[in-house]
Amino acid sequence: MKIAVIGAGYVGLVTAACFSEFGFQVKCIDRDKGKIKSLKKNIIPIYEPGLIDLVKKNNDSNYLSFSANISDVTDAKVIFIAVGTPTARRGNGEADLKYVYKVCKELSVLLKKGKPKLIITKSTVPVGTGKKIKEKFEQYRNDLIFNKDYYIASNPEFLREGSAIEDFMRPNRVICGVSNETSIEILRELYRPLNLRETPLVFTDLESAELIKYASNAFLAMKISFINEMADLCEKTGGNVQMVAKGMGLDNRIGSKFLHPGPGFGGSCFPKDTRALYNSFKKFKVKNSLVKSTIEFNERRKLQMVSKIKKILGKNIKIKRIAFLGVTFKPNTDDLRESPSLVIIPELIKLGAIVHAHDPAYTKSFPKLKEFKKVKWFKNVFGAIKTSDLLLIHTEWNEYRGLDMNKVKKVLRQPIIFDLRNIFNKNDIQKFGLKYYGIGFK
Ligand code: NAD
Ligand code: UGA
Repeated sequence: MKIAVIGAGYVGLVTAACFSEFGFQVKCIDRDKGKIKSLKKNIIPIYEPGLIDLVKKNNDSNYLSFSANISDVTDAKVIFIAVGTPTARRGNGEADLKYVYKVCKELSVLLKKGKPKLIITKSTVPVGTGKKIKEKFEQYRNDLIFNKDYYIASNPEFLREGSAIEDFMRPNRVICGVSNETSIEILRELYRPLNLRETPLVFTDLESAELIKYASNAFLAMKISFINEMADLCEKTGGNVQMVAKGMGLDNRIGSKFLHPGPGFGGSCFPKDTRALYNSFKKFKVKNSLVKSTIEFNERRKLQMVSKIKKILGKNIKIKRIAFLGVTFKPNTDDLRESPSLVIIPELIKLGAIVHAHDPAYTKSFPKLKEFKKVKWFKNVFGAIKTSDLLLIHTEWNEYRGLDMNKVKKVLRQPIIFDLRNIFNKNDIQKFGLKYYGIGFK
């Protein structure tokens, strides 16, 4: 089967690479000509473990190819739309669907009658979008016959950055929102390679599939905000949030995942998707307080981290040097979208602190961000730590877990560590003569 994937970002590129690995003929299309030029030469624009090998292997064996020309979709039976759906610049947090609709408009011109195709949204889109997409196509081309020549389906993606390939190849479930039997047959054929692993393939209507994606992200985000609130209570009462999370997580009904406290959730999805879901509640006039609280708490959380740093460094935060380790929103990615560091660093700089940063996925684009303008970057982690007054762990990269604490103690100006991810054990660190602060315990 020939597949086209429109959008060569984190989701589009992984989808294209993985389907080509399954032996399908995949064309990955992006309007960004520079990106396509690089991809043709096996140069990957993003940091995603394992992706380069998969792209290279399948590009070289012609299962995967790249194009900047959307008209190259015409011989594909299945077309995935995997373009971005960021928060709209103006508005109440709703998802901006302009990229999705632009693709629909471009596709409508190219589609020919009588050659059945399945058009699948992989992008995360608000409930009702699948139906709107169909209306848009009909608006652009009233001669297209849906449920005869064309079918629309929703197949939301649940991969995580940093483990995208594993998540795509071994998903907990595949959700398919469909409106007819032919769509079910095509989707079964597409995901047959996962049958060996007995992956549940769940067929729903379009609306439920769209809602499952938002509900899943919002629920996980809510879990994080919940444990962060518990961490605050632990700090006041003498409890230890890691023990609380462990004790809660052993209950199968709760589960231990997404109960790690920290500086708040970031990334290209939880923040925007919780906002978009809250917007759907408002749009359809359904009362909601849980998603709203999750968003509001998470916004406060980042500033709360700044208050904690202020408390640790005292009034003299001005001219104090902070070694800021990890700026991405999570490890194993170079993605900075909505990373808590984008709020915390400018606040520290406003207070007069000097930020020395390090990140294993550093790229030349980092210092170009206005939030990081005054940051001094170091290639070597000890370069950032040397003569600093505080070592702050913002992202739990593996590289930081094994830091030589004798050396850390020796090169820091003040022997203080603030670990926003609790990657170290307080007692272990104190043995090196370092003062240690973490999240959710005294
Ligand atoms: P991204 O910004 O990394 O990539 C989007 C790509 O689409 C860009 O390369 C852009 O150039 C391209 N594009 C935009 N308009 C186009 C057009 N008209 N024709 C061709 N290409 C076009 O986005 P992403 O992170 O891959 O996210 C894509 C969607 O998947 C979003 O809806 C997101 O919510 C969802 N999602 C993302 C993740 C993730 O981990 N990033 C996981 C699950 C779902
Ligand atoms: C998340 C979901 O986990 C994916 O299932 C989903 O497909 C994706 O969003 C999406 O829709 O784009 P991702 O954003 O890559 O994936 O990363 P996560 O591992 O979920 O982490 C998100 C944020 O939550 C990070 O900032 C992370 O540090 C934070 N987090 C996560 C915590 O603070 N505590 C936790 O216990 C887990």
